[in-house]
Amino acid sequence: SSYENIKVEKKEGRVALIELYRPKALNALCTPLINELNDATEKLDLDADVGAIVITGSEKAFAAGADIKEMQSKEYINAYTTNMFANWANLSKIQTPTIAAVNGFALGGGCELAMLCDIILAGEKAKFGQPEIKLGTIPGCGGTQRLIRAVGKSKAMELVLTGNMMSAQEAEAKGLVARIYPVEDLVDEALKMARQISSFSKPIVQMAKEAVNASYEMSLEEGCRFERRIFHSTFSTEDRLEGMTAFVEKRDPTFKHK
Ligand code: HXC
Repeated sequence: SSYENIKVEKKEGRVALIELYRPKALNALCTPLINELNDATEKLDLDADVGAIVITGSEKAFAAGADIKEMQSKEYINAYTTNMFANWANLSKIQTPTIAAVNGFALGGGCELAMLCDIILAGEKAKFGQPEIKLGTIPGCGGTQRLIRAVGKSKAMELVLTGNMMSAQEAEAKGLVARIYPVEDLVDEALKMARQISSFSKPIVQMAKEAVNASYEMSLEEGCRFERRIFHSTFSTEDRLEGMTAFVEKRDPTFKHK
């Protein structure tokens, strides 16, 4: 690929691996990197051979935040009129499931980027934090909103108001992280999970993702109704019939829509 700040690789089992790659800056998320990440994920989202995407960094840093050197001399009017960082959330809008495989630091925008993904897996030395307060600013890409939903108010407030970091173990106990793995196994395990997801019917996987994500935006009653309607719509697919028929016939299903 022609990217300079990320590496994109399609792997066997219908999965893709994106590696954030600015080793000299601990993968600080400069504008070109985010633009490349958006370009790559939008293309992979439409790629019929890709059922899930893993996003990772290096063993030292998933990403140490937005690029402080790039932001240093920004002024308010420019930040406002360019709607600075609004396009980061593009990642959360794709239909293909995304897994963040976090080793090392996931700080500020790095933690927010991980939270834009559907599942966070962590290496046992990962550290999560929102240290913007130390720079005289606050999280700008959902840190104050998504973190509280993941870890609760008291912990989110601690991280946002003190800049303290949270260990992988604490993040898993609180539910921010789905699973922890040894540092060197993390990416392989994330790819394994991605392949597992990719083995199922692609439209049904995307419906499940859409239904889970709806819980962020809706009341319980509206969310359950939305879920039920999508559940009903799975009955319009051949893959739903195949999945249940295979169970009844005691064989593995062969999903048609991938
Ligand atoms: C630009 C960064 C950077 C960042 C690290 N670097 N983080 N450059 N932006 N966010 C650069 C350093 O300047 C240095 O380059 C090189 O990466 C290595 O970093 P060191 O600090 O020397 O490494 P170390 O001593 O191991 O410390 C690691 C660290 C520290 C604890 C992660 O780098 C750190 O505190 N970084 C900043 C974390 C942070 O505040 N993130 C939030 C950013 S604000 P040179 O060239 O000097 O050697 C944010 C707002 C988001 O994210 C808003 C919405 C998107």
